[in-house]
Amino acid sequence: MTQSPQAPSGADLPRLPVTLSVNGETHELTIDPRVTLLDTLREHLHLTGTKKGCDHGQCGACTVLLDGQRVLSCLTLAVMHDGQSVTTVEGLGTPDHLHPLQDAFVRHDGYQCGYCTPGQLCSSVGTLDEIARGVPSHVTADLDAVRFSAEELRERLSGNICRCAAYPNIIAAVTEVHAAGDGA
Ligand code: FES
Ligand code: FES
Repeated sequence: MTQSPQAPSGADLPRLPVTLSVNGETHELTIDPRVTLLDTLREHLHLTGTKKGCDHGQCGACTVLLDGQRVLSCLTLAVMHDGQSVTTVEGLGTPDHLHPLQDAFVRHDGYQCGYCTPGQLCSSVGTLDEIARGVPSHVTADLDAVRFSAEELRERLSGNICRCAAYPNIIAAVTEVHAAGDGA
């Protein structure tokens, strides 16, 4: 009787080199090619600000900025991003120098348990940049005239789920930062 070929175990897989700039610091890693960007940040670089909620692309808790654009870090592999720049919530501000959005979230009571907050913050930074660059969304009426509105915000942040339902306060915080012109 012939034996069927066995699937390679994890130990058989070659590890691959990847260089990531994370929050301005260069990291040269050699990792299992199956490791997600989320697990790379949390398990290899010990940046646990980025949260694992669903691990299936459904909650937004793992949102980070990749070369300035928001991505779900649970849905992409670290080795796909060699040479790219990642910004996590740890790179937005510090306790002594909060990012304007972090400051606004605090003042507007934009979080309760805080689990979704790192993803909400990264997504908000990316959203304000998208609107400023004229990237349309599903609710944009005139594709040549993308304008900030609460409706645009709700649509663009709809992938960031908050079990505590801090949504109105998050919208108020992001709206204030947009009005002040310092959301980048
Ligand atoms: S953990 Fe990535 S979308 Fe939920
Ligand atoms: S603040 Fe608790 S899930 Fe959003």
